[in-house]
Order: sequence, then structure tokens, then C-alpha cells
Amino acid sequence: MIEKTILVTGGAGFIGSNFVLNWIGREDSPIVNLDKLTYAGNLGNLSDLKNDPRHIFVKGDIGDRALVRELLNRHRPRAVVNFAAESHVDRSIHGPEDFIQTNVNGTFHLLQETRAYLEALEGNEKSAFRFLHISTDEVYGSLGPDDAPFTESSPYAPNSPYSASKAAADHLVRAFHHTYGLPTLTSNCSNNYGPYQFPEKLVPLMILNALNRKPLPVYGDGLNVRDWLYVQDHCDALRTVLASGYPGEVYNIGGGNERKNIDVVRTICSLLDELRPVPRQEYASLITFIKDRPGHDRRYAIDARKIGRELRWKPTENFETGIRKTVQWYLDNMAWVKSITSGEYQQWLETNYVNRGTA
Ligand code: NAD
Ligand code: TYD
Repeated sequence: MIEKTILVTGGAGFIGSNFVLNWIGREDSPIVNLDKLTYAGNLGNLSDLKNDPRHIFVKGDIGDRALVRELLNRHRPRAVVNFAAESHVDRSIHGPEDFIQTNVNGTFHLLQETRAYLEALEGNEKSAFRFLHISTDEVYGSLGPDDAPFTESSPYAPNSPYSASKAAADHLVRAFHHTYGLPTLTSNCSNNYGPYQFPEKLVPLMILNALNRKPLPVYGDGLNVRDWLYVQDHCDALRTVLASGYPGEVYNIGGGNERKNIDVVRTICSLLDELRPVPRQEYASLITFIKDRPGHDRRYAIDARKIGRELRWKPTENFETGIRKTVQWYLDNMAWVKSITSGEYQQWLETNYVNRGTA
């Protein structure tokens, strides 16, 4: 029997595309991938699936009610997995509006259409359906150096327009479960890193700047702490949550790898010294401290014991193994880097997907 389809949103972004690739390699269900292809979405991430009938790409907005309705009714998915979002804190500081539009309003419209779709389902189709919403540890705010890591019951205290918009979305998801019985699952994860990350985020930005011998811009004193989660570990965790998570529940997902930003940057520099040495010029000499981000959260840390205890998931990579793979991936994929930084991928999209329509 062919497994029923899942509808993934934002599956051309960093985590979403890793999830689609991870899923197609391990599960039987086909994927309908709804993505608006903002600057962060890149179909080049999914070029391995170009001729794979299990992946159906649809360019569109999660806030487009008619499109979402049509996709739900046509493909009758057994789950919706919502990655679609504006995801970069710095961009949210410069221009918060898109964050409200997609993360809050978009999620609301997606929930409304999913609710209507679910109401028309019956029996096993109805009881097996899940709405998995991907969120962030940033909704819990900032920790002091000795505070215990965030648990699923830590109070929400978002500090950036990005985290506030994600917090609002999480509250809507919760409310749709409690009010309408939507079988939701919410995951709050820490900072992901790995292949296909858009080079505006810390790890790929530092790798590419270093390779181009540009300054490595560290905000403030560089002592802010993040927990780092290798993206493929995150994808495995999400498949686990979807398969076995209990409706209405929240699962924190972390890598168990707290690092200061400056140490992350120094680690990247030493790996590049080893893998792409430049005589008499250590990459760390490019480190430059610059003016801090306004409202910069000092520390995030995740207590991931619930997902370990209840769903038996734990990460397989530690930061040292994951960052080595990541640096090596960027070194091996400079064509991808060029395409994403030059806008060439837009042309590939025009050629291959625009006006092609859905299956
Ligand atoms: P990303 O910015 O790389 O990708 C987002 C994707 O969503 C892009 O492909 C974009 O085109 C698409 N998109 C944006 N607006 C859309 C809309 N209105 N309709 C349809 N598609 C739209 O983000 P990411 O890093 O892959 O993050 C994915 C999810 O995980 C987000 O919800 C983010 O909040 C969450 N998250 C990310 C991290 C991280 O470290 N990257 C950590 C915790 C949580
Ligand atoms: P980022 O990758 O933007 O993720 P987030 O803000 O969601 O945690 O940033 C990770 C950390 O690195 C954060 O503390 C900000 C810092 N940072 C820099 O110091 N320099 C940079 O150029 C960037 C992009 C981030």
C-alpha cells in the first residue's frame, strides 16, 4: 500500500529542504512541498529530487487560503509539517512586518484551512492526522549563565520581533488544539547548522567570509551562548515526533552542545586552517568584534529530556563532529554557494518550475 502524502511548508529553506531529503530517503509517503521561495528558499537544495515523483513542489504562500484548501483537498495529506517562516533575527530587527505576515497571519490561515479539512475527514484518516509546527527555543527568552535550560513548561518571554512572531504562532497552534481539537504537535529546537544553510546565519556566514578573506564579524563580546543542533539530527527528531508524539504536546529538541559564539567562530577557523590552509595566515586573524545586536539574547539552552524519555530520540552528532561535516560540505559545494549568492538559482527556478503547475 502506498503511504499517504504529507504536506510540508517551507521545504525549500534550510531545515525544510534537509527534512524533505531526509524523509524521502527513509519514509514511504510522498511530499507536497509548499514554499513561497523568498530569498531564503532555494530549489537548488532539492535538485537531487528533480525527477522523483515522490516530491511535488508548489510555489505559493501559506497565507493563500484558496491554494492551501486546494492542496489539502487534492492531495488529502495525513499530516501538515509547518516550517514556513521568516527566520532571521537580524532581518526582523530591520523589517518586522514580513515576520508578522508569514509567522503569525500565515500560520493562522494554515491552521484555519487545516481545521476545515480535518472536519471533513472520518474514521482512521481523521484520527491519524497530525499538524506538526516547527518552532524555536527563542520563544523562551534569554537565560543567565547559571539558569537551568529551557523545558517545555518554561514561560514564554520573546525578545526580538522574530521570536515574538514565533511565540504568537505557537500560541495559536496551542489554542487550535484546545479549542477545536486539532491534533497538533509543536517542537521548539535550538540553533541548527549543517548543509544548505543560507549564509546570513552565523555558521555559514563565518565559513564563507573566511574563505573570501573577509572580516569575521562577531557581535558584542562574542560571549553569547547558543545550543547547536546538527540539522539531520533535528530532521530525525521531527520524524520521531510526527510518528509517535502525543497530540497537543510540545517537545524541546536540542543538541546538548552549548557554545559561546566566539568559540564557534574559532572552531570554524581551526577547521579551515586544517582543511584549506593559507600559509602564514591563520583564519582567526580575520575575527572582528562589531557593535552588538539590539536586544541580543545572552544564552539559550535546551532541556531535551522529554523527547529522550518519551520518544527515545537523542542526537547522534556532537558539535565537533557536526561542524567538521558542515565546513567540509561548504568546501565541497561551492557551486551551490555561488548559485545562492549570485541569484543564479532564480534562473533555474524560471527554467524548470515556473508555469509548470502541480501534478
Ligand atoms: P529558512 O529561512 O531557511 O527557510 C524558510 C522557508 O520558508 C524558505 O524556503 C521560504 O521561502 C519559506 N517561506 C517563507 N515565507 C513563506 C510563506 N509565507 N509561505 C510559504 N513559504 C514561505 O528557515 P529555516 O532555518 O529552515 O527554519 C525553518 C523553521 O524552523 C522556521 O519556522 C524557523 O522559525 C524554525 N527554526 C529554525 C532554527 C534555525 O536554527 N535555523 C532554529 C529553531 C527554529
Ligand atoms: P544567528 O545565526 O543569526 O542565529 P540566532 O540569532 O537565531 O541565534 O546568530 C547566532 C549567534 O551569532 C547570535 O548570538 C548572534 C551571533 N552572530 C554574530 O556574532 N555575528 C554575525 O554576523 C551573526 C549573523 C550572528
